[in-house]
Amino acid sequence: MPSNRARIDRGRMQKVQQILSEFHLQKEELLEVMQRIQQEMEKGLRLETHKTASVKMLPTYVRSTPDGSEVGDFLALDLGGTNFRVMLVKVSEDAQGGWKIETSNQMYDIPADVMTGTAEMLFDYIAQCISNFLDQYSMKDKKLPLGFTFSFPVRHEDIDKGILLNWTKGFKTSGVEGNNVVGLLRDAIKRRGDFEMDVVAMVNDTVATMISCYYEDHSCEVGMIVGTGCNACYMEEMKNVELVEGEEGRMCVNTEWGGFGDTGELEKFRLEYDCVVDEASVNPGYQLYEKIIGGKYMGELTRLVLLKLVNQNLLFNGEASQLMKTRGSFETRLLSQIESDTGDQKQIYNVLTTLGVLPSKADCEIVHLACESVSTRAAHVCAAGLAGVINRMWKNKCKETMKITVGIDGSVYKYHPHFKHRFHTMVRELAPCCDITFLQSNEGSGRGAALISAVACKMAS
Ligand code: BGC
Repeated sequence: MPSNRARIDRGRMQKVQQILSEFHLQKEELLEVMQRIQQEMEKGLRLETHKTASVKMLPTYVRSTPDGSEVGDFLALDLGGTNFRVMLVKVSEDAQGGWKIETSNQMYDIPADVMTGTAEMLFDYIAQCISNFLDQYSMKDKKLPLGFTFSFPVRHEDIDKGILLNWTKGFKTSGVEGNNVVGLLRDAIKRRGDFEMDVVAMVNDTVATMISCYYEDHSCEVGMIVGTGCNACYMEEMKNVELVEGEEGRMCVNTEWGGFGDTGELEKFRLEYDCVVDEASVNPGYQLYEKIIGGKYMGELTRLVLLKLVNQNLLFNGEASQLMKTRGSFETRLLSQIESDTGDQKQIYNVLTTLGVLPSKADCEIVHLACESVSTRAAHVCAAGLAGVINRMWKNKCKETMKITVGIDGSVYKYHPHFKHRFHTMVRELAPCCDITFLQSNEGSGRGAALISAVACKMAS
């Protein structure tokens, strides 16, 4: 006969597992997500349906088969997450005629008032950071070509011209949406007047990541980010890119798949926690797919799950600390710490005590399960997106099997202890006809922007 205590624990665990089971998606359900993403991708590419598609499939004007590149010094800017980075990239040729790249860079915080202020404030701040960087390297007198990694949805007219469609990831700066981002940067540099720059290219971080990995592996035709936000780009046949004239060759398309679900395609899978996170965000109703996966949201999703368990008297004796009740207090990096636990529960205990609770062993176990549920769902749902892209490319190629490399970056992918493995396994299960290599990029955003600028300079010369 199990003791009373054990019976209570078993009953409690069963209730917990039932609540968490909502996060588990069957393979059939993931295939459904994949097919729906593919439908939206198709809609995004077609002129007739582009407007109503939730996956925008934005042409980047980064084409296949670049004919060589310039060598020399380039400046790269990277804006898109919690930091802003300025980078000096030296591109030269190696003995085999390939690229050789050396970089030095500097990170700058983005103050909250700049993130939510005016366009002028944001771009003046960026120009100020560049000025500071050039001072450090005594390069103020040089007019360098500049590549700008701007990790938001941009409708390009050319590689160096594009308007911001909408902010994501908590940015709210006024006066940028609907405007030419490169123009705003050029104006700010002019306003300062203490240095000059030749802005030659603006790219999304997924595109920069793909290009920087292509430099190592020429099969790299997909770029992906799983960080604060989540997105992917890939090489599409020009004949399918209806928003740009011309049928020949291929062009990189920025899917902006973070917006998937914004026209209702994910309703069947979204849970109460997803709705709360969305409603409390600065862009309710938008980026619903990203809000399931991105590091900006996963911690908060977990906190809401934990509060639900507390409210059902299944955790912390039915009482949450003040901190646990505070929005944003459970950061995504804590999921990584908790899931790194090696079995002794020390990490979990430490994290929870800093959040003001004194957990029992069973509490630690339950919190671990909750984290695992949220992050596994993220990895699997994200895998459905990538399988959607890869299976589409495979169909385009009409081959029996396809070998492909995916260049990938982002804090969730890099630092979560199990995301990678769960994600890779599920992508391979959902795209069985493809031989997929995942290549983690190093400083891809900056290096990629510089390489694209090097190619753009060559084309213009
Ligand atoms: C943006 C994308 C970006 C992704 C990853 C999303 O919020 O819309 O443009 O690639 O985050 O940084």
